[in-house]
Amino acid sequence: MSLKTLQDLLDEGVDGRHVLVRSDFNVPLNDAGEITDPGRITASLPTLKALLDGGAKVIVTAHLGRPKGEVNPRFSLAPVAEALSEALGQYVALAADVTGEDAHERANGLTEGEILLVENVRFDARETSKDEAERGAFADELAALAADNGAFVSDGFGVVHRAQASVYDVAKRLPAYAGALVGTEISELKKVAEAPEKPYVVVLGGSKVSDKLGVIEALSGKADKLIIGGGMCYTFLAAQGYNVQKSLLQEEMIDTCKDLLARHSDKLVLPVDLLAAAEFSADAENKVVALDSIPEGWLSPDIGPKSVEVFAEVLATAKTIFWNGPMGVFEIEAFSQGTAGVAQAIIDATAKNGAFSVVGGGDSAASVRVLGLDEEGFSHISTGGGASLEYLEGKELPGVAVLSA
Ligand code: 3PG
Repeated sequence: MSLKTLQDLLDEGVDGRHVLVRSDFNVPLNDAGEITDPGRITASLPTLKALLDGGAKVIVTAHLGRPKGEVNPRFSLAPVAEALSEALGQYVALAADVTGEDAHERANGLTEGEILLVENVRFDARETSKDEAERGAFADELAALAADNGAFVSDGFGVVHRAQASVYDVAKRLPAYAGALVGTEISELKKVAEAPEKPYVVVLGGSKVSDKLGVIEALSGKADKLIIGGGMCYTFLAAQGYNVQKSLLQEEMIDTCKDLLARHSDKLVLPVDLLAAAEFSADAENKVVALDSIPEGWLSPDIGPKSVEVFAEVLATAKTIFWNGPMGVFEIEAFSQGTAGVAQAIIDATAKNGAFSVVGGGDSAASVRVLGLDEEGFSHISTGGGASLEYLEGKELPGVAVLSA
């Protein structure tokens, strides 16, 4: 069966029907609990507006962080409800629970063109349970919110790689459709996954090598160059024999990195210098150093300027670019130069070389906006981190596959 889309649902008619929408509102928050990058909220608007304009009674489910099945005010969707109200220009009520009395009463009380957000689905342990029956029971409750003649729209692209109750199981219980965001993401990412114009350069950052192993293996066959920066590069540098001092290190992955370096030496591009800081704080003493010269007891929170130059030279040749993971701790201004420099090099390659460039993911996408870079300078900024990586690795995304089942 082929994938049914939001347009199919709108053509059927949504006026007066309850439509359950799964969005990804997993937005970054600062210590004061304020949203620092509303990108995922903005990306959810086309689907929500189309449904509301069509007269649907919209119920949105989403997660924030990993509260591990417990109600925790720190992970409440309250800031999201407020930001979404503002972005939509209409009040978005927040239910006090997920599938409890308040959610049901509010869902039943919706009138045409009104919208309700229920609390963080991960406040219920069944959402992420490995037990299908447990997830199924929770999915039954979620589907019941949409009452008779309801429908489900899957629009949280960032979470479609998770076979979780509100993403996967619920789609088996209601007529299910792919939202506008899921549609756009798949069609843009397909261009990179299926026939990337060569040279194809992948830039990987982020903290853990272990999270990116599958990607490195899968993409080393397809990409011409794999640039490695961010927290994960220190394990590679340690594998090359450098003393990374107190920088992020996954010691148990050093041998794996040695093996990757041996097998893909022609493709992997590593930093050639680093920024070193006396400690992990915004006002710590810092200086640019050679790879073998991180002062004793210091750490490296960013790549250095020569590394940016070397990476930019590689990127300047590219016709297809996929970037996932910041080059350093961009949230702290003093450690943001590497990420800003590489992002600018991708923008330049897009403009000057006609490269098709995709920013994959939560952190990298947030860094573009937080650092004030030109969002229009990239061909596509994905809302999915893990989801876009898994798609490019060639893995099946359960939250998408289930829509065609
Ligand atoms: C993300 O931020 O990548 C998505 O929202 C998925 O979140 P998760 O990794 O906690 O499942």
